[in-house]
Amino acid sequence: MIPRIAVNGAQGKMGSITAKTIQEHPKYKLVGEFGRHTELREAIKNSQPDIVIDFTTASAAFENAKTIIDCGIHAIIGTTGFTPQQISTLKKTCARKKLGVIIAPNFSISALLLMRIAKEVAGYLPHVEIIESHHEKKADAPSGTAIKTAELLNQARAKTKKFNSHELISGARGADKDGIPIHSVRLPGFLAQEEIIFGSPGETLHLKHNTIDRNAFMPGVILACEKVQLLSTLVYGLEELLF
Ligand SMILES: NC(=O)c1ccc[n+]([C@@H]2O[C@H](COP(=O)([O-])OP(=O)(O)OC[C@H]3O[C@@H](n4cnc5c(N)ncnc54)[C@H](OP(=O)(O)O)[C@@H]3O)[C@@H](O)[C@H]2O)c1
Repeated sequence: MIPRIAVNGAQGKMGSITAKTIQEHPKYKLVGEFGRHTELREAIKNSQPDIVIDFTTASAAFENAKTIIDCGIHAIIGTTGFTPQQISTLKKTCARKKLGVIIAPNFSISALLLMRIAKEVAGYLPHVEIIESHHEKKADAPSGTAIKTAELLNQARAKTKKFNSHELISGARGADKDGIPIHSVRLPGFLAQEEIIFGSPGETLHLKHNTIDRNAFMPGVILACEKVQLLSTLVYGLEELLF
């Protein structure tokens, strides 16, 4: 049986390319393209998908995820901006229902490799800062990827002192995630870029990933479609399934 997939946010930048990718993929069937004006529960009932992929907005994605899970359908959530509490709530519901769901702040395999390499480096070089740069229309800051990267780096590094300078302008030292500064750039010309800078006496190490086309996310979306059907719980971060 060919898995049936619906895309929520299908008119958006990520949703439209995802719908096209699924439509052209020989192993999957696109059965729904939902948007802001779709009644999600009704649309799921009518189109009977096995998987719903969500690329909407942070303010809508939690309710969307609850609805999809409540319908007993696998969800793949690419929308960023979930709080740790929201992820924990959804995780408990999925565990209770034994339902596979993936929340992935980044579907780019190269970006995931960057996180993996950075995690290893953090074991040797605990002093680290993140600079993430995105297009000017990105709704949230810092990026979901930068938050996830900071979480992973903090798990891997030794306890360390943050270097605080007196901020002459508030925010100059970036946002603080687990003691790791994250600096967010929003400018036309960028799609998505993340640089992780490690500092050590007398040297720095820079790791950088640059997304120049949204097609970069599609192999990860397809990987998530394969994996989510085998899961019976919620997985946060595609890297958990890759490595
Ligand atoms: N995980 C990843 O790898 C990855 C990569 C890139 C982006 N993202 C994230 O994906 C999300 C979407 O990004 P984008 O660039 O595609 O944004 P976008 O172009 O603004 O698309 C969002 C779409 O969702 C629709 N929408 C808004 N509220 C909705 C609701 N309640 N139900 C259904 N659809 C709704 C919007 O409709 P209207 O136009 O009518 O508002 C729009 O068509 C963002 O959170 C972004 O950070 C994730």
